[in-house]
Amino acid sequence: MAPRKIIIDTDPGQDDAVAILLALGSPDDIDLLGITAVAGNVPLPLTQKNARIVCELAGRTDVKVFAGCDAPMKRKLVTAEHVHGKTGLDGPQLPDPKMPLQDQHAVDFIIETLRNEPSGTVTLCPIGPLTNIATAFERAPDIIPRVQEIVLMGGAYFEVGNITPAAEFNIYVDPEAAQIVFQSGVPLVVMPLDVTHKALTTKSRIDAFRNMGTHVGTMVAEWTDFFERFDMEKYGSEGAPLHDPCTIAYLIDPHLFSGRYINVEIETQSELTLGMTVADWWRVTGRKPNALFIGDLHAEGFYRLLTDRISRL
Ligand code: RIB
Ligand code: CA
Repeated sequence: MAPRKIIIDTDPGQDDAVAILLALGSPDDIDLLGITAVAGNVPLPLTQKNARIVCELAGRTDVKVFAGCDAPMKRKLVTAEHVHGKTGLDGPQLPDPKMPLQDQHAVDFIIETLRNEPSGTVTLCPIGPLTNIATAFERAPDIIPRVQEIVLMGGAYFEVGNITPAAEFNIYVDPEAAQIVFQSGVPLVVMPLDVTHKALTTKSRIDAFRNMGTHVGTMVAEWTDFFERFDMEKYGSEGAPLHDPCTIAYLIDPHLFSGRYINVEIETQSELTLGMTVADWWRVTGRKPNALFIGDLHAEGFYRLLTDRISRL
């Protein structure tokens, strides 16, 4: 089967970095058309720089990286340095990137790519706030039916929130953007905290990266060493959830995951529950299903895939 053509929309972020590396380590499954950076974990100047750092680490200076929106559609930016550190990629020291940032705005790249590629052949993988995607949909509604699928990391139901008691970070930062994407009608696969919290970076799993004998493997282990401290302290868990790579792993091996096709709406009015993904898991509302909402994964299989593909870089 031909590799899946995708655009990764991202706010690196250590877990975003691992997702990008998983995609770059899987050329037979993934044809990465470009990486679009968005403001999220850290401000845009850092997310676009971090995306290029990750590509250079993988030896892929040919990958096109674009800078997108530097703030949510209607709100002030909320960042997550408390989780990812000041640079967004705290942990190991890595050199500033030499590869160029593309001149074209990320939103224009998304629009142009969806117009130029055959309809139904490009998948969008947003793993940060949905600002770039929603802005592209608002600016060029003609591209919406041309999207093959959106596989995103965001939201929560049983796990509830991680940035507020009710909301997961990616949705909370730009709830209006999330509402546009969830109501767009594009086939949607959602990787919420319900599944990512079952993909924990246990010591043995991270040692598999540390002992890989590659520079990339060592960097992943050091990023994770830094990234996991926050969640382990907060949840008392044995490791931290490796959120964003779940989207790419789903594209490579969907059988690792299970969920339900249900209705998911976004809270955009109440300050108390702003950004909540109201997931009708028990199908009590009668509202039209709009998303495959993933609730579980085969964690060992997920980490086996991750280590196998990242060891190839
Ligand atoms: O809530 C987890 C999400 O927020 C992940 O995408 C992480 O990188 C941050 O962006
Ligand atoms: Ca992210």
